Amino acid sequence: MEKLVALCKRRGFIFPGSELYGGLNGTWDLGPLGVAFANNVKKEWWKSVVQDREDVVGLDSAILHHPQVWEASGHVASFTDPLIECKVCHARFRADHKNNITLHEKTHQEKNIWTEVKSFNLMFKTFVGPIDDEKNKTYLRPETAQGIFINFKNVLETTRIKIPFGIAQIGKGFRNEITTGNFLFRVREFEMMELEFFVKPGTDKKWHDFWKQERLQWYLSLGIKKENIKLVDLPKEDIAHYSKGTTEVWYKWPFSSSSGKSDFGELEGIANRGDYDLTQHAKYIGKDISYFDQEGNERYVPYVIEPSVGVGRAILAFLIDAYYEEEKRVVLKLHPKLAPCKVAVFPLLGNKEELIVKAKEIYKILKELFGGAVMFDDRGNIGKRYLYQDEIGTPWCVTVDFETLKDNAVTVRDRDTTKQERIVISKVSSFLEKKLNS
Ligand code: GAP
Repeated sequence: MEKLVALCKRRGFIFPGSELYGGLNGTWDLGPLGVAFANNVKKEWWKSVVQDREDVVGLDSAILHHPQVWEASGHVASFTDPLIECKVCHARFRADHKNNITLHEKTHQEKNIWTEVKSFNLMFKTFVGPIDDEKNKTYLRPETAQGIFINFKNVLETTRIKIPFGIAQIGKGFRNEITTGNFLFRVREFEMMELEFFVKPGTDKKWHDFWKQERLQWYLSLGIKKENIKLVDLPKEDIAHYSKGTTEVWYKWPFSSSSGKSDFGELEGIANRGDYDLTQHAKYIGKDISYFDQEGNERYVPYVIEPSVGVGRAILAFLIDAYYEEEKRVVLKLHPKLAPCKVAVFPLLGNKEELIVKAKEIYKILKELFGGAVMFDDRGNIGKRYLYQDEIGTPWCVTVDFETLKDNAVTVRDRDTTKQERIVISKVSSFLEKKLNS
């Protein structure tokens, strides 16, 4: 993990938040490569969950909601973690994070140092408007899901969609976690990719099973190794207040999970929220928000299946899975669709004008083809340029050499095998495009 965090900093993927001021715990900033990488992850999620389907539409709701939304949803009363405080130094910990507690007891060489366990609400409070009193208090959303539930009627009335259907949303969520850590794993501000899939009660198990497999396949199709990922059904005592049953996608993290029992831990949650949220909102606003099913000529409150994952947590899994230390190099074997840079173009030597001109011509064509995700590099020697591109996960490097001026062909080097192929310039675009989509 330390090596990965260092690489992310060194190459401009991820910087500690507010680093210039000594940092702000639980926040991270995405650098130039990090934002490109995160955009690719979000693009692939959106493609698989919305664009490739006929039964899911998108939404982008406000982050701030009416404060009653969070009362109705149960977050004011129940979105809490158990908190204990050390009576000696007043450090606060999550009571269920046994590893941290044991470590802290060791620093004081004493076990009997804890206060009673209290419930700590994780929502960040804020005020809407110029008066900061109770009446104007609301919260930064801890999940994007409620923005979807409060727009359920709007979407139904403005689209031709029928149950079963889903509404997907990508956006920031905020949680004032008691303890943060393990890089992007547990932070206080993070982006979420959430789908609320509305189904007829009674068909919920079938759709829950469908989305479990669908989401697992998504990770596998983007290169996560089979042995590092699995689906786990949570016991009743571990599920959220709104859930009728939750399955999690677990990833084999290189650190122990919060319980300290296993290195497998939560990457994504796939909950069956039942009719909890729509029923609660209907109760709070005093209006019916049920669904009329024309085919069955019946009215019901739909059940909801919800796959939900943090962009940062997904990024972390993709990075860990792709990180390799080989004899002479460190390489990120990212899936080409996720790689922030698809191709790097080099002139063999940085001081030969005719090579530079040719390389720039190819660079421009590829940049257009790959939506900008292409780099040009003429610094240092070719070996160092390869090492740099390996570290940032660029799948292919194209080199213009002296032969190119005679045979109009270039060398294409593959990141994973380091094998080089000679390709005629006119065929480079189609060659790389085919590889990207294979
Ligand atoms: N709407 C459902 C929901 O919010 P959750 O299990 O609390 O469910 C969903 O969160 C996902 O969001 C998690 O599986 C994880 O990927 C991510 N996530 C949750 N809390 C996080 C945190 N503090 N830091 C980073 N990611 C987090």
